[in-house]
Amino acid sequence: MKKKPDPSKIPGKGKDVPGELPSENGRKEDSSQKNPNRVEKKTDTLILEVRKLYHRYPHLDENALDNINLKIYKGERVAVLGANGAGKSTLFKHLNGILKPLSGEVLVKGEKVTKKNVRACRETVGIVFQDPDDQVLAPSVEEDVAFGPINMGLPREKVEARVKEALEMVGLSGFEERAPHHLSGGQKKLVAIAGILAMRPEVIVLDEPTAGLDPLSSARILDLIMKMNRELGITLLLSTHDVDVVPYFAERVFVLHHGKLEADGSPEEIFSDPELLRKAHLRLPRVAEVFELLRQEGINAAIQITAESARDEIMRVLGRDTKSAGMK
Ligand SMILES: Nc1ncnc2c1ncn2[C@@H]1O[C@H](COP(=O)(O)OP(=O)(O)OP(=O)(O)O)[C@@H](O)[C@H]1O
Ligand SMILES: [Mg+2]
Repeated sequence: MKKKPDPSKIPGKGKDVPGELPSENGRKEDSSQKNPNRVEKKTDTLILEVRKLYHRYPHLDENALDNINLKIYKGERVAVLGANGAGKSTLFKHLNGILKPLSGEVLVKGEKVTKKNVRACRETVGIVFQDPDDQVLAPSVEEDVAFGPINMGLPREKVEARVKEALEMVGLSGFEERAPHHLSGGQKKLVAIAGILAMRPEVIVLDEPTAGLDPLSSARILDLIMKMNRELGITLLLSTHDVDVVPYFAERVFVLHHGKLEADGSPEEIFSDPELLRKAHLRLPRVAEVFELLRQEGINAAIQITAESARDEIMRVLGRDTKSAGMK
Protein backbone atom coordinates (compact mmCIF):
# COMPACT_ATOMS: atom_id res chain seq x y z
CA MET A 1 0.00 0.00 0.00
CA LYS A 2 1.14 3.51 -0.72
CA LYS A 3 2.42 5.74 2.03
CA LYS A 4 -0.41 7.84 3.48
CA PRO A 5 -0.07 11.47 2.38
CA ASP A 6 1.10 13.95 4.95
CA PRO A 7 -2.00 16.12 5.58
CA SER A 8 0.15 19.25 5.50
CA LYS A 9 1.05 18.39 1.90
CA ILE A 10 -2.55 18.06 0.74
CA PRO A 11 -3.28 21.22 -1.28
CA GLY A 12 -5.05 23.77 0.86
CA LYS A 13 -4.48 21.92 4.13
CA GLY A 14 -3.04 23.81 7.04
CA LYS A 15 -4.91 26.98 6.13
CA ASP A 16 -7.24 26.26 9.05
CA VAL A 17 -10.28 27.87 7.54
CA PRO A 18 -13.15 25.85 8.94
CA GLY A 19 -15.92 24.85 6.57
CA GLU A 20 -19.15 26.66 7.24
CA LEU A 21 -22.75 26.19 6.33
CA PRO A 22 -24.73 29.12 4.99
CA SER A 23 -27.40 30.78 7.11
CA GLU A 24 -30.93 29.34 6.74
CA ASN A 25 -31.58 31.55 3.73
CA GLY A 26 -28.09 32.73 2.91
CA ARG A 27 -26.23 31.57 -0.18
CA LYS A 28 -22.61 32.07 -0.97
CA GLU A 29 -21.08 33.34 -4.17
CA ASP A 30 -19.97 30.53 -6.45
CA SER A 31 -16.19 30.95 -6.44
CA SER A 32 -15.92 28.00 -8.84
CA GLN A 33 -16.46 30.36 -11.74
CA LYS A 34 -13.03 31.86 -11.09
CA ASN A 35 -11.03 28.70 -10.67
CA PRO A 36 -12.85 25.37 -10.82
CA ASN A 37 -9.95 23.43 -9.34
CA ARG A 38 -9.22 25.70 -6.43
CA VAL A 39 -9.08 23.79 -3.16
CA GLU A 40 -10.48 25.69 -0.24
CA LYS A 41 -11.56 25.35 3.34
CA LYS A 42 -9.25 22.55 4.32
CA THR A 43 -8.11 21.86 7.86
CA ASP A 44 -6.02 19.23 9.56
CA THR A 45 -9.08 18.10 11.49
CA LEU A 46 -9.67 14.39 11.29
CA ILE A 47 -13.37 13.86 10.66
CA LEU A 48 -13.62 10.15 9.82
CA GLU A 49 -11.36 7.30 10.77
CA VAL A 50 -11.56 3.57 10.16
CA ARG A 51 -9.36 1.29 12.24
CA LYS A 52 -8.70 -2.39 11.56
CA LEU A 53 -12.18 -2.86 10.13
CA TYR A 54 -13.30 -6.36 9.13
CA HIS A 55 -16.72 -7.28 7.76
CA ARG A 56 -18.14 -10.66 6.84
CA TYR A 57 -21.65 -11.25 5.52
CA PRO A 58 -23.49 -14.25 7.03
CA HIS A 59 -22.89 -17.64 5.38
CA LEU A 60 -19.88 -16.38 3.37
CA ASP A 61 -16.35 -17.70 3.83
CA GLU A 62 -14.52 -14.56 2.70
CA ASN A 63 -14.34 -11.20 4.43
CA ALA A 64 -16.08 -8.43 2.48
CA LEU A 65 -13.74 -5.98 4.25
CA ASP A 66 -10.34 -7.06 5.39
CA ASN A 67 -8.36 -4.87 7.81
CA ILE A 68 -9.34 -1.45 6.45
CA ASN A 69 -7.48 1.49 7.96
CA LEU A 70 -8.09 5.01 6.68
CA LYS A 71 -8.36 8.65 7.71
CA ILE A 72 -10.38 11.45 6.14
CA TYR A 73 -9.83 15.12 6.96
CA LYS A 74 -12.44 17.85 7.09
CA GLY A 75 -13.11 19.41 3.69
CA GLU A 76 -11.38 16.72 1.64
CA ARG A 77 -12.73 15.21 -1.57
CA VAL A 78 -11.88 11.53 -1.66
CA ALA A 79 -12.73 8.93 -4.30
CA VAL A 80 -12.96 5.22 -3.53
CA LEU A 81 -12.11 3.25 -6.66
CA GLY A 82 -12.78 -0.44 -6.95
CA ALA A 83 -14.23 -3.06 -9.29
CA ASN A 84 -17.66 -4.67 -8.78
CA GLY A 85 -17.70 -6.53 -5.48
CA ALA A 86 -14.54 -4.80 -4.19
CA GLY A 87 -16.32 -3.72 -0.99
CA LYS A 88 -17.10 -0.03 -1.65
CA SER A 89 -20.78 -0.15 -0.60
CA THR A 90 -19.95 -2.36 2.38
CA LEU A 91 -17.32 0.12 3.54
CA PHE A 92 -19.72 3.04 3.15
CA LYS A 93 -22.44 1.31 5.17
CA HIS A 94 -19.99 1.13 8.08
CA LEU A 95 -19.33 4.87 8.03
CA ASN A 96 -22.56 5.79 9.78
CA GLY A 97 -23.38 2.58 11.56
CA ILE A 98 -25.70 0.89 9.03
CA LEU A 99 -23.53 -2.25 9.26
CA LYS A 100 -21.83 -3.56 12.39
CA PRO A 101 -18.14 -4.50 12.11
CA LEU A 102 -17.01 -8.09 12.63
CA SER A 103 -14.12 -6.36 14.37
CA GLY A 104 -12.45 -2.96 14.31
CA GLU A 105 -14.01 0.44 14.64
CA VAL A 106 -15.22 3.55 12.86
CA LEU A 107 -14.70 6.95 14.47
CA VAL A 108 -16.73 10.01 13.54
CA LYS A 109 -15.11 13.22 14.80
CA GLY A 110 -12.95 11.12 17.11
CA GLU A 111 -15.87 9.19 18.64
CA LYS A 112 -16.37 5.51 18.08
CA VAL A 113 -19.72 4.79 16.40
CA THR A 114 -21.86 2.80 18.83
CA LYS A 115 -25.56 1.98 19.22
CA LYS A 116 -25.89 4.93 21.59
CA ASN A 117 -24.46 7.64 19.34
CA VAL A 118 -25.43 6.23 15.93
CA ARG A 119 -28.18 8.84 15.51
CA ALA A 120 -25.77 11.74 16.08
CA CYS A 121 -23.26 10.08 13.72
CA ARG A 122 -25.93 9.93 11.00
CA GLU A 123 -26.47 13.66 11.39
CA THR A 124 -22.73 14.18 10.83
CA VAL A 125 -22.27 11.61 8.04
CA GLY A 126 -25.02 11.41 5.39
CA ILE A 127 -25.00 8.59 2.88
CA VAL A 128 -26.48 8.69 -0.60
CA PHE A 129 -27.06 5.03 -1.46
CA GLN A 130 -26.07 3.42 -4.73
CA ASP A 131 -29.72 2.69 -5.57
CA PRO A 132 -32.04 5.69 -5.00
CA ASP A 133 -34.99 3.26 -4.67
CA ASP A 134 -33.46 2.21 -1.31
CA GLN A 135 -33.59 5.81 -0.13
CA VAL A 136 -36.36 7.77 -1.82
CA LEU A 137 -39.51 6.26 -0.36
CA ALA A 138 -42.00 9.02 0.51
CA PRO A 139 -45.09 9.69 -1.64
CA SER A 140 -43.87 13.13 -2.73
CA VAL A 141 -40.47 14.74 -3.35
CA GLU A 142 -41.17 17.37 -0.71
CA GLU A 143 -42.04 14.81 1.97
CA ASP A 144 -39.02 12.75 1.07
CA VAL A 145 -36.57 15.63 1.41
CA ALA A 146 -38.30 16.75 4.64
CA PHE A 147 -37.95 13.31 6.24
CA GLY A 148 -34.41 13.84 7.61
CA PRO A 149 -34.90 17.37 9.00
CA ILE A 150 -38.22 16.30 10.63
CA ASN A 151 -36.46 13.34 12.25
CA MET A 152 -33.81 15.70 13.55
CA GLY A 153 -36.62 17.47 15.43
CA LEU A 154 -36.39 20.78 13.55
CA PRO A 155 -39.40 23.15 13.75
CA ARG A 156 -41.71 23.31 10.72
CA GLU A 157 -40.44 26.62 9.32
CA LYS A 158 -36.86 25.39 9.41
CA VAL A 159 -37.82 22.12 7.74
CA GLU A 160 -39.58 24.06 4.98
CA ALA A 161 -36.58 26.36 4.49
CA ARG A 162 -34.19 23.40 4.36
CA VAL A 163 -36.35 21.55 1.82
CA LYS A 164 -36.63 24.63 -0.38
CA GLU A 165 -32.90 25.28 -0.24
CA ALA A 166 -31.93 21.64 -0.89
CA LEU A 167 -34.28 21.36 -3.87
CA GLU A 168 -32.92 24.63 -5.26
CA MET A 169 -29.35 23.34 -4.91
CA VAL A 170 -30.05 20.18 -6.88
CA GLY A 171 -32.08 22.06 -9.49
CA LEU A 172 -35.43 20.44 -8.57
CA SER A 173 -37.45 23.48 -7.48
CA GLY A 174 -40.98 22.92 -8.76
CA PHE A 175 -40.79 19.14 -8.22
CA GLU A 176 -42.18 19.34 -4.66
CA GLU A 177 -45.50 17.60 -5.39
CA ARG A 178 -44.14 15.03 -7.83
CA ALA A 179 -44.21 11.34 -6.93
CA PRO A 180 -40.61 10.02 -6.73
CA HIS A 181 -41.55 6.71 -8.38
CA HIS A 182 -42.57 8.69 -11.48
CA LEU A 183 -39.19 10.43 -11.75
CA SER A 184 -36.28 9.34 -13.95
CA GLY A 185 -33.28 7.56 -12.42
CA GLY A 186 -31.16 10.72 -12.51
CA GLN A 187 -33.90 12.85 -10.97
CA LYS A 188 -34.37 10.27 -8.20
CA LYS A 189 -30.64 10.47 -7.45
CA LEU A 190 -30.95 14.23 -7.17
CA VAL A 191 -33.89 13.80 -4.73
CA ALA A 192 -31.75 11.42 -2.66
CA ILE A 193 -28.92 13.99 -2.59
CA ALA A 194 -31.38 16.77 -1.65
CA GLY A 195 -32.67 14.61 1.23
CA ILE A 196 -29.16 14.30 2.59
CA LEU A 197 -28.28 17.97 1.94
CA ALA A 198 -31.37 19.08 3.87
CA MET A 199 -29.86 17.48 6.98
CA ARG A 200 -26.70 19.55 6.47
CA PRO A 201 -24.25 16.78 7.35
CA GLU A 202 -20.57 17.62 7.65
CA VAL A 203 -19.65 14.60 5.52
CA ILE A 204 -21.54 13.31 2.49
CA VAL A 205 -20.78 9.83 1.25
CA LEU A 206 -22.02 9.11 -2.26
CA ASP A 207 -22.09 5.55 -3.49
CA GLU A 208 -21.61 5.65 -7.28
CA PRO A 209 -23.55 8.87 -7.78
CA THR A 210 -22.99 8.93 -11.54
CA ALA A 211 -23.62 5.26 -12.36
CA GLY A 212 -26.34 4.81 -14.98
CA LEU A 213 -26.61 8.52 -15.73
CA ASP A 214 -26.28 10.24 -19.10
CA PRO A 215 -23.23 12.54 -19.56
CA LEU A 216 -25.22 15.70 -18.80
CA SER A 217 -26.84 14.34 -15.62
CA SER A 218 -23.51 12.90 -14.57
CA ALA A 219 -21.73 16.25 -15.09
CA ARG A 220 -24.54 17.99 -13.24
CA ILE A 221 -24.21 15.72 -10.21
CA LEU A 222 -20.43 16.17 -10.20
CA ASP A 223 -20.83 19.97 -10.44
CA LEU A 224 -23.29 19.85 -7.58
CA ILE A 225 -21.06 17.87 -5.27
CA MET A 226 -18.04 20.07 -6.09
CA LYS A 227 -20.25 23.03 -5.18
CA MET A 228 -21.24 21.41 -1.88
CA ASN A 229 -17.56 21.01 -1.08
CA ARG A 230 -16.54 24.52 -2.12
CA GLU A 231 -19.48 26.51 -0.84
CA LEU A 232 -20.53 24.54 2.21
CA GLY A 233 -17.18 23.03 3.17
CA ILE A 234 -18.74 19.55 3.13
CA THR A 235 -16.28 16.66 3.22
CA LEU A 236 -16.97 14.28 0.34
CA LEU A 237 -16.35 10.62 -0.14
CA LEU A 238 -17.47 9.17 -3.45
CA SER A 239 -17.24 5.65 -4.83
CA THR A 240 -16.99 4.93 -8.52
CA HIS A 241 -15.46 2.67 -11.12
CA ASP A 242 -15.44 5.52 -13.59
CA VAL A 243 -11.72 6.36 -13.59
CA ASP A 244 -12.30 9.26 -16.01
CA VAL A 245 -14.18 11.35 -13.44
CA VAL A 246 -11.69 10.81 -10.63
CA PRO A 247 -9.01 13.37 -11.67
CA TYR A 248 -11.69 16.06 -11.95
CA PHE A 249 -13.17 15.36 -8.56
CA ALA A 250 -10.74 13.85 -6.11
CA GLU A 251 -7.78 15.17 -4.17
CA ARG A 252 -7.16 11.72 -2.78
CA VAL A 253 -8.00 8.24 -3.99
CA PHE A 254 -8.43 4.96 -2.13
CA VAL A 255 -8.24 1.77 -4.17
CA LEU A 256 -10.22 -1.19 -2.85
CA HIS A 257 -9.75 -4.72 -4.13
CA HIS A 258 -11.26 -7.87 -2.65
CA GLY A 259 -12.09 -6.02 0.57
CA LYS A 260 -8.56 -4.71 1.05
CA LEU A 261 -7.37 -1.11 0.83
CA GLU A 262 -4.66 -1.53 -1.80
CA ALA A 263 -3.63 2.12 -2.10
CA ASP A 264 -4.15 5.60 -0.73
CA GLY A 265 -2.67 8.45 -2.75
CA SER A 266 -3.20 11.43 -5.03
CA PRO A 267 -4.86 10.77 -8.42
CA GLU A 268 -1.42 11.36 -10.03
CA GLU A 269 0.16 8.69 -7.80
CA ILE A 270 -2.64 6.18 -8.31
CA PHE A 271 -2.73 6.61 -12.10
CA SER A 272 1.02 6.31 -12.44
CA ASP A 273 0.90 2.76 -11.06
CA PRO A 274 -0.23 0.46 -13.91
CA GLU A 275 0.45 -2.66 -11.83
CA LEU A 276 -1.94 -1.47 -9.12
CA LEU A 277 -4.64 -0.61 -11.67
CA ARG A 278 -4.32 -3.98 -13.35
CA LYS A 279 -4.50 -5.81 -10.03
CA ALA A 280 -7.60 -3.84 -8.98
CA HIS A 281 -9.30 -4.45 -12.38
CA LEU A 282 -9.25 -0.74 -13.18
CA ARG A 283 -7.78 1.20 -16.08
CA LEU A 284 -6.10 4.51 -16.82
CA PRO A 285 -8.29 7.54 -17.57
CA ARG A 286 -8.79 7.88 -21.37
CA VAL A 287 -6.70 11.08 -21.44
CA ALA A 288 -3.76 9.17 -19.95
CA GLU A 289 -4.21 6.34 -22.47
CA VAL A 290 -3.67 8.85 -25.31
CA PHE A 291 -0.37 9.88 -23.70
CA GLU A 292 0.66 6.24 -23.37
CA LEU A 293 0.07 5.85 -27.13
CA LEU A 294 2.04 9.03 -27.87
CA ARG A 295 4.92 7.74 -25.75
CA GLN A 296 4.86 4.44 -27.66
CA GLU A 297 5.35 6.57 -30.79
CA GLY A 298 8.51 7.96 -29.17
CA ILE A 299 7.03 11.34 -28.22
CA ASN A 300 8.56 12.62 -25.02
CA ALA A 301 5.39 13.73 -23.24
CA ALA A 302 4.64 13.20 -19.56
CA ILE A 303 1.43 11.28 -18.90
CA GLN A 304 -1.47 13.58 -18.00
CA ILE A 305 -4.85 12.73 -16.46
CA THR A 306 -7.02 15.78 -17.14
CA ALA A 307 -7.94 17.47 -20.43
CA GLU A 308 -6.49 20.80 -19.22
CA SER A 309 -3.10 19.42 -18.22
CA ALA A 310 -3.08 17.35 -21.43
CA ARG A 311 -3.55 20.54 -23.48
CA ASP A 312 -0.65 22.21 -21.64
CA GLU A 313 1.64 19.20 -22.10
CA ILE A 314 0.79 18.90 -25.81
CA MET A 315 1.46 22.62 -26.26
CA ARG A 316 4.79 22.19 -24.46
CA VAL A 317 5.76 19.28 -26.72
CA LEU A 318 4.78 21.37 -29.75
CA GLY A 319 7.01 24.14 -28.41
CA ARG A 320 4.09 26.48 -27.92
CA ASP A 321 3.23 28.37 -24.77
CA THR A 322 -0.50 28.04 -23.91
CA LYS A 323 -0.70 31.71 -22.94
CA SER A 324 1.12 33.16 -25.92
CA ALA A 325 -0.92 30.86 -28.17
CA GLY A 326 -4.00 32.65 -26.91
CA MET A 327 -5.54 29.61 -25.19
CA LYS A 328 -8.47 30.34 -22.92
N1 LIG B 1 -26.14 -8.25 1.73
C1 LIG B 1 -25.14 -9.02 1.34
N2 LIG B 1 -25.12 -10.34 1.70
C2 LIG B 1 -24.09 -11.14 1.31
N3 LIG B 1 -23.03 -10.71 0.60
C3 LIG B 1 -23.01 -9.42 0.24
C4 LIG B 1 -24.06 -8.52 0.59
N4 LIG B 1 -23.75 -7.30 0.08
C5 LIG B 1 -22.56 -7.45 -0.56
N5 LIG B 1 -22.12 -8.72 -0.47
C6 LIG B 1 -20.85 -9.24 -1.01
O1 LIG B 1 -19.79 -8.49 -0.44
C7 LIG B 1 -18.79 -8.17 -1.41
C8 LIG B 1 -18.62 -6.65 -1.50
O2 LIG B 1 -19.84 -6.13 -2.03
P1 LIG B 1 -20.09 -4.56 -2.18
O3 LIG B 1 -21.52 -4.39 -2.51
O4 LIG B 1 -19.56 -3.87 -0.98
O5 LIG B 1 -19.15 -4.25 -3.44
P2 LIG B 1 -19.02 -2.90 -4.30
O6 LIG B 1 -17.57 -2.56 -4.38
O7 LIG B 1 -19.94 -1.89 -3.76
O8 LIG B 1 -19.50 -3.42 -5.73
P3 LIG B 1 -20.33 -2.63 -6.92
O9 LIG B 1 -19.32 -1.82 -7.68
O10 LIG B 1 -20.85 -3.77 -7.75
O11 LIG B 1 -21.41 -1.83 -6.28
C9 LIG B 1 -19.25 -8.82 -2.71
O12 LIG B 1 -18.59 -10.05 -2.84
C10 LIG B 1 -20.74 -9.05 -2.51
O13 LIG B 1 -21.18 -10.18 -3.22
MG1 LIG C 1 -21.56 -0.90 -4.51
